[in-house]
Amino acid sequence: MLQSLPTTQKLSEHFRQEIVGIDQQVPLLDGSFTIYTNLDNSASTPAFRRVKEKMDEVFTWYSSVHRGSGFKSLLSTHLYDEARLVVLNFVDADPESECVIFCKNTTEAINYLASIYPFEPGDMVLTTAMEHHSNDLPWRVKAQVIYAKVLDDGSLDMEDFVAQLERNAGKIKLVAVTGASNVSGFMPPIYEIAEMTHRHGAKILVDCAQLFPHRQIHVGPADSPRHLDFIAFSAHKVYAPLGSGGLIGPKEFFNQLEPGYRGGGTVEIVTLKEVIWTTSPERNEPGSPNVIGAVALASALKQLSEVGMEAIAAHEAELTHYALIKLNQLQGITLYGFKDPNRVEDRLGVISFQVDGLTHGKVAAILGFEGGIGVRNGCFCAHPYILRLLNVTDEQYKAHHERALKHNRADLPGLIRISFGCYNNFADIDRLVNMLERIIQGDYRGVYAPDNHSGSYYPQGFEMASLSKYFSF
Ligand SMILES: Cc1ncc(COP(=O)(O)O)c(C=O)c1O
Repeated sequence: MLQSLPTTQKLSEHFRQEIVGIDQQVPLLDGSFTIYTNLDNSASTPAFRRVKEKMDEVFTWYSSVHRGSGFKSLLSTHLYDEARLVVLNFVDADPESECVIFCKNTTEAINYLASIYPFEPGDMVLTTAMEHHSNDLPWRVKAQVIYAKVLDDGSLDMEDFVAQLERNAGKIKLVAVTGASNVSGFMPPIYEIAEMTHRHGAKILVDCAQLFPHRQIHVGPADSPRHLDFIAFSAHKVYAPLGSGGLIGPKEFFNQLEPGYRGGGTVEIVTLKEVIWTTSPERNEPGSPNVIGAVALASALKQLSEVGMEAIAAHEAELTHYALIKLNQLQGITLYGFKDPNRVEDRLGVISFQVDGLTHGKVAAILGFEGGIGVRNGCFCAHPYILRLLNVTDEQYKAHHERALKHNRADLPGLIRISFGCYNNFADIDRLVNMLERIIQGDYRGVYAPDNHSGSYYPQGFEMASLSKYFSF
């Protein structure tokens, strides 16, 4: 497959021109400046230029949605409703049966579903030990949560998953699984899992926070066994700004339940004695909606669709292949999750590693302060998965627990993560690898120390307040 990708360089060049701030210079420790290399797309992607332009354009028009009679209100209502269709179309969901409830992000979307889900006492949620906390903690307060295991290579233990599903058939009401891990990039076989889940009489939620910008998602027809009942996603991971995201699911399901939040916009009629709720998605979107966020999201999705998710996936697979070869060649790097450069089909371009003998916080700080490279370090809101990948023993965990209780977070277990977007290129990876080589050889100039409260490392003499000179309100 990798040989058949001559367009990949062209694709990153195309997208680089589309990224706001792609040439942004950032200061380095020695007082010089360099163009920022963003290898932290799993956290948030930069925005597309078109998104910024469309946001500027809509600022001149935007007004109340579903409320006003003036032209600007009508147009805003129209744009908001059209944005829903763009989103549903992007994930191959039928607008007749499915709806998107706009939320502020994936976390809110999953919490919302958890808050309204009609669990009965004794009901279970089957999830996995590789989830982001946002697809784990909301379920813990609503049902008994059980976790399918993870194998040593970071993939999901499907045998254990099936065994738990079969053992608890009838009690499991929902399977909540990630579409892709934000730690290892591993992609569980979600359509196969959907089929098994439905066979056992449960529904499935796929946390698509990571999958959304990288793969074509098929919610599919409601009567298909491979149908994804619910998906959740965030706009800020798909080249639009923070503050919008969504929960997609069947209108019929939402219409049968009380809304999670109540207020303006959710009702047909209210008297002092009675409330008649309106239908979904409005039933589930109280208050004035974020029309600008919806327009930004829809613009980003249109742009991705024009290129096609297949081409994007192929390009990112090639980057991942290249990065794994380079990182595997470096002495002094330990990779976590899949190390095999040829295994790029069932994973995203999310790679976690450690530099032997150096704490993750220090490496991340040197990359930022001396290389102008943005990565993530720590446990990436997936503590159980990272502890499992690092084989942290119960004894070690107890010691970390004690320190965390005292708010001493310096040098807790963790990893360094790089994650690619459609605009990254081989030069970005080369820059990272060169900096890692220097770090391994001790060729860096700063003296770094941790801030115990946050766990982050900073070079001696660095003051947060010094950043004010780069931006003022
Ligand atoms: C797999 C996964 N799920 C959920 C989330 C939460 O997304 P948000 O912070 O946008 O709510 C993230 C964020 O990184 C994630 O990677």
